[in-house]
Amino acid sequence: MNVRVLTGIKPSGTPHLGNYVGAIRPTVRASRESGIDSYLFLADYHALISTHDPARVQRSTLEIAATWIACGLDPERVTFYRQSDIPEIPELTWLLACVCGKGLLNRAHAYKAAVDKNTAEGRDPDDGVTMGLFMYPVLMAADILMFNAHRVPVGRDQIQHIEMARDLASSFNHLYGPHFTLPEAVIDEQVATLPGLDGRKMSKSYDNVIPLFAPREQLRRLIMGIVTDSRAPGEPKATDGSAVFQLYQAFATAEETAAFARDFAAGIAWSEAKERLFERIDREIAPMRATYDELMAHPARVEAMLRAGAAKARAEATPFMARLRAAVGLRPLDTLATMVTAMGTATSWGTATASTAPAKAAPPVFKQYREADGRFYFKLTDAKGHVLLQSTGFDSPKDAGQAVARLKAEGWAACADLHGAVTAAAEADKIEAALARLR
Ligand code: TRP
Repeated sequence: MNVRVLTGIKPSGTPHLGNYVGAIRPTVRASRESGIDSYLFLADYHALISTHDPARVQRSTLEIAATWIACGLDPERVTFYRQSDIPEIPELTWLLACVCGKGLLNRAHAYKAAVDKNTAEGRDPDDGVTMGLFMYPVLMAADILMFNAHRVPVGRDQIQHIEMARDLASSFNHLYGPHFTLPEAVIDEQVATLPGLDGRKMSKSYDNVIPLFAPREQLRRLIMGIVTDSRAPGEPKATDGSAVFQLYQAFATAEETAAFARDFAAGIAWSEAKERLFERIDREIAPMRATYDELMAHPARVEAMLRAGAAKARAEATPFMARLRAAVGLRPLDTLATMVTAMGTATSWGTATASTAPAKAAPPVFKQYREADGRFYFKLTDAKGHVLLQSTGFDSPKDAGQAVARLKAEGWAACADLHGAVTAAAEADKIEAALARLR
């Protein structure tokens, strides 16, 4: 089975070269590796937590989607979708919220930071804190668990959220059976950070960014404005600590970089070095910029790609959600009728009531019973009373009931994880037919 890697992108702000080199380019490359199923989505529900400006949400979603496609993300190859197109995600958020201790969320960094700030400034601790901010980690857990992601590449600030997703998955699995894969955070230790125009790390908060898809002339102007030392043309220049050099290195091959370093030592003029940097960056960016501009001019194309991605994602999410609903007891009521008949009484667990033979023309029945060993069992018998399935002992009636419910809802073959605890006493197709009849 392929490793499932899931990445969420919050649509906010305009992507810059730092985002491209540090996140977009490596993620797009990784998504092309074999043996990997890549899930990439626009976390637009998350965006609502930090902005209440509808036009901005829509605009950002388009910009970020167009950016990723322009940068080479192949929607045929990966599952690329918009979070808000998957109604199963908020549905799962609720199921997870119901197994999530409030105390767990009290400890979430983003929430704690808001509370600490309020307290320090003498305000009510929860001043300005929405339930969206408070629930942020639960929504993120739903994003991840919905697709049973194995790996989630994130920045350090997000590690706690992945741990919370694991916590919620474990709690749910403990209560309702093994439904969720426990995700692991993948931290790229050597993630490239780019210097910005002033030499500090390129970041929106320093206002020193170069927008990824700035038009060519604007890109040149910005690059010409990068801070350098005051060495004159002809004077040797240090590559260490030079923003011009580091930016070049992020785009150039090893040979190109070595040649650039020799030119630094030989005293290249800063204006010339910047011109070379500009041309090197533009060589990589220009074709993507053309695609980006094209997509921005035709939002319907982006919309169509996202819808196709949502259909692909929902082909998994919809049946999985049905299974989860059944697991927690959100079930069609007519399945209960069978269980009542089978058990004699629905509420009391009799001791070894399994010996009662069913009438000749009766449908297949599940019988749940307690043995003298104090454990809980069930078996499935056909119309003639032949045993089709026989369980081993479960610790609680709830565990036995869940196994029965899953067998009924999903069939025998789909419940491979139960095959250790339930023995088939007849051919698989007979069992499937009996389960189908019960359904
Ligand atoms: N919280 C992430 C961020 O701010 C975005 C995100 C939302 C995410 N859901 C996710 C990332 C699921 C990984 C997996 O960057």
